[in-house]
Amino acid sequence: MKKILIRKDKKYYWNEGDLHTASGVIKEEDLKKSVNKVKAHSGKEFSVAPALFIDKIEKIKRDPQAMLEKDIALILTYSSIDKDSIVLEAGTGSGKLTSFLARIVKKVYSYDKNKDNLNLAKKNLDFLDIKNVELKNKDIYENIDEKELDLIVLDLPMPWKTVKNCYDSLKQGSFLISYLPTIPQVMEFIHEVNKHNFLVVKTIELIEREWMVEGQKTRPKSSLQHTAFLTFVRKL
Ligand SMILES: C[S@@+](CC[C@H](N)C(=O)[O-])C[C@H]1O[C@@H](n2cnc3c(N)ncnc32)[C@H](O)[C@@H]1O
Repeated sequence: MKKILIRKDKKYYWNEGDLHTASGVIKEEDLKKSVNKVKAHSGKEFSVAPALFIDKIEKIKRDPQAMLEKDIALILTYSSIDKDSIVLEAGTGSGKLTSFLARIVKKVYSYDKNKDNLNLAKKNLDFLDIKNVELKNKDIYENIDEKELDLIVLDLPMPWKTVKNCYDSLKQGSFLISYLPTIPQVMEFIHEVNKHNFLVVKTIELIEREWMVEGQKTRPKSSLQHTAFLTFVRKL
């Protein structure tokens, strides 16, 4: 079983073998037996817990710019997807959004035109033991094979090039979501969307700011950072 070990502010991830930490080495046999606590050969103690999905996803390899959790949360929340949903996303990238989608829905189709990225995503999905994803080496600007989809998410530079394909492949009432870093791109996307019978629901930028709280000392931990604009439209 994959586990996390915590000592002071440091978190370590363990899968197999001896674990080397700043506070000493912990033997594999001790890690296997450990439930709540384990000691390194130095005598220093660590808290132990099973690794959750959020711990495992921190360990995946990311090559292209992966989506942040705050933005993924909006997609999962506003699209109304559930265990019966069939969804499509492009591009796959390192498969981070793919993994979050796959935990919730019945099936994910994921297109990427870059084979290296698909290979990386495949490794990450195997590491996370995710099986309900079909990776396709395809350019989504050309066409979409699937029909009657419950959601399409586009995280690529020119989503307007595939809006017509998306319209034809979505179920009535379902969402198409674009993820774009700049407003001119959002404008171009909406301009194309308006040529079809889509309802433009909203464009959101979500700013996340973590706070440090230690006794009486409190302050923002991070500065405000722009990632992207999420635009939600629905097929009518
Ligand atoms: C920013 S990454 C996606 C990151 C991904 N959402 C994640 O969370 O890991 C963009 C991906 O889109 C792919 N891409 C760009 N244009 C494409 C197209 N026309 N069809 C399919 N994939 C495309 C790129 O190869 C790249 O892997």
